[in-house]
Amino acid sequence: MALAGSDAGANPAASTEKWSSRFAFIMAAVGSAVGLGNLVRFPAEAGSNGGGAFVIFYIFCVVLIGLPVLLSETLIGRAGQSSAIESVKSVARRSGASPLWSLGAGIGMVGAFLILCYYSVLAGWIIYFAGLFVSDLGSALSTGAIASGAFAGQDQESVAGLLGELHGNSTMMIAMHALFMAVTIFVVARGVHGGIEKVAIWLMPTFFILFLGITIYSVATGAFGPTLSFLFSFEPARLLDPNVMLSALGQALFSLSLGSALMITYGAYASRDTNLAKTSGVIASADTSVAIIAGLAIFPIVFAAMAPDVLAAVLSGEESVPNGLGLMFSTLPVAFQTMPFGSLIGLLFFVMVFFAALTSSVALLEASVSWAVHRFKASRTTIAVVFGGVIFLIGTWSSFSFNSQAELYLLNFGIFAEQNPFGIIDVVTGKILLPVSALLVAIFVGWIADKRLIDEENGMSGAPHMIWRFLIAWLCPLVIGVILITGLFPQILG
Ligand code: TRP
Repeated sequence: MALAGSDAGANPAASTEKWSSRFAFIMAAVGSAVGLGNLVRFPAEAGSNGGGAFVIFYIFCVVLIGLPVLLSETLIGRAGQSSAIESVKSVARRSGASPLWSLGAGIGMVGAFLILCYYSVLAGWIIYFAGLFVSDLGSALSTGAIASGAFAGQDQESVAGLLGELHGNSTMMIAMHALFMAVTIFVVARGVHGGIEKVAIWLMPTFFILFLGITIYSVATGAFGPTLSFLFSFEPARLLDPNVMLSALGQALFSLSLGSALMITYGAYASRDTNLAKTSGVIASADTSVAIIAGLAIFPIVFAAMAPDVLAAVLSGEESVPNGLGLMFSTLPVAFQTMPFGSLIGLLFFVMVFFAALTSSVALLEASVSWAVHRFKASRTTIAVVFGGVIFLIGTWSSFSFNSQAELYLLNFGIFAEQNPFGIIDVVTGKILLPVSALLVAIFVGWIADKRLIDEENGMSGAPHMIWRFLIAWLCPLVIGVILITGLFPQILG
């Protein structure tokens, strides 16, 4: 490692770790992007924002905003060769600009840290439900009734109430959250090579196989026609609805793990011969496909189990589908009750979601751990345990959003009207930290950083390069800026 700070080109905090292959980089980056955001948040946002109109605007945001920002973040990382903050500082210094531009990465890092607090609580529920399906599969096997639906002999109400039951049991909820954080800390403590990369290389391909299998099962046995009309038809008026546009941009940033310092961090681990433009394209298309296909996997099962009159009301827009959490933890288990091989498919489903959540949570923790390891010259294990421990505690506080005294934890001022801790973290990260960080990254790459420094990391030339330069300097700051302001001051929209 070069420690001579006098050489203007060298970064004293240069990172030593590298992905062992381009495949490892892609799996880790796709693993971070594909997570509860695709499987829980996307179907929920699509459901509550008019289906097709949201989906179309979402794709628009991914291509015109998400992709250019994604490429910029990985470029900064590789040019800076360190944690997110140090990478931006290094590029800024060499461009003759203020190191204060690293504030954007710092804000993103705090965002990633906070997201993990509630992400891990949710992932704990996933583990709990996987456990429920394991025991249900066990009893289905012992009675020989594996081909029939899940939770045989239980009435629909009690299955729909399983999530409520978990919420009433704080000890269980905190224990599951602790278990998930322990696994996340363990992986991050083992480092980029020994931990993060190994998990991504094994879990992501397995995830894709399960995902494909469940989608085929769902399309073959579920209500596919209604799903298509739900996801892809819309009233043209909603396309210009500013609230739909806001939600779509927020979701695009969240889903691609942007504005959270992470893609800068992962870009620094990429070797010189990785074409970052191409790789960013692969990451964005994989993430977007999973989000949209997740809709095609989840809704047919849900719609197949709905009474015809309820389904008709949902499709005509008179009634909305249950929100994200209700969809995954209540509507879906009830639907598995009526599906052939329900216990087995239910178990595979929750295992698949767990894999997606874990590859995202290690990335969420790595964003700050990689910085602190350099900053405090401490061991990775110590930092992972300390940061993970603090995240566990904040997450535990956020889990009180769901217990019987939940109203004690409500905050009520400004944009936090009637929010529980879960909602507060989601608003602070989604509406403030992530967009601010992405905005600063776009301005930094578009206007501040030395163009030669950035462009020599870039595998692009000709028209694609010019288009990317235009998008990152003009369209991204403008759109993210407008969204940020309207998100914080909704009264502007009337
Ligand atoms: N993209 C993740 C998901 O869809 C969530 C996320 C947001 C994230 N920012 C991140 C994951 C930073 C890892 C790192 O679930």
